[in-house]
Amino acid sequence: MARRKFVCGNWKMHKTAAEATALVKELAAGVAEAARAGEVQVAVAPPFTALHAVATALAGTGIELAAQDVHWEAQGAFTGAISAAMLADACCTHGIVGHSERRQLFGETDEGVRRKAAALLGAKIRPIVCVGETLAEREADRTLEVVGRQVRQGLQGLSPEQLRQLTVAYEPVWAIGTGRTATAAQAQEVHAALRKILRELGGPVADEVRIQYGGSVKPENAAELMSQPDVDGALVGGASLKAKDFLAIVKGALR
Ligand code: 13P
Repeated sequence: MARRKFVCGNWKMHKTAAEATALVKELAAGVAEAARAGEVQVAVAPPFTALHAVATALAGTGIELAAQDVHWEAQGAFTGAISAAMLADACCTHGIVGHSERRQLFGETDEGVRRKAAALLGAKIRPIVCVGETLAEREADRTLEVVGRQVRQGLQGLSPEQLRQLTVAYEPVWAIGTGRTATAAQAQEVHAALRKILRELGGPVADEVRIQYGGSVKPENAAELMSQPDVDGALVGGASLKAKDFLAIVKGALR
């Protein structure tokens, strides 16, 4: 089945509200053409402090708003945390969970990913659930075991209808910010394995779930990666900070 490609820019810890607004203005000028007026779904994930300004700047552009993280509790004494309801209030329609930087630097666990994804769904925000193996795990031939565990545990207990709402992002840790991209064949192999697991978890709905690739996606490699049958878009870090590069990647998603 034809899945609409989905390209999301993860701005990580970059851009003040003013800088973020300026980038959105540049994106807005070219996105309709780059995405051939909606053929590709496009979102950006600014830091929390820029969400409000970016939401305002995005109005009418067709670009959607994503958060980079969320806390699973609804409210309470959780200093520094942001709830799903707060993200909905800030106009987020997507939320990234389980990013490898959160897993590696901030102690995110598969159980945390599961709770965060459920909290987002409860607030009608679509989770982007990230999985990916380290270089050591790939070299030990453990890639499918690791991403399999991450996706099974992270999505545990979700109904097929909930699975339909979410996106999975395969981001090999060794490819993030390194300039070393997975080959199209390496990406396709893992994406196909992930879809098989999604089928076990949710049945036919697996054919509707988008699986993005992330890790050094650039204008030069985007089209080849996204031409693979199970690569349904991209989660873009560094290259999403420059309008020209991000728009070129969006164009790469067009068939
Ligand atoms: P880079 O595109 O900078 O490698 O980052 C990928 C990523 O982590 C997106 O979430």
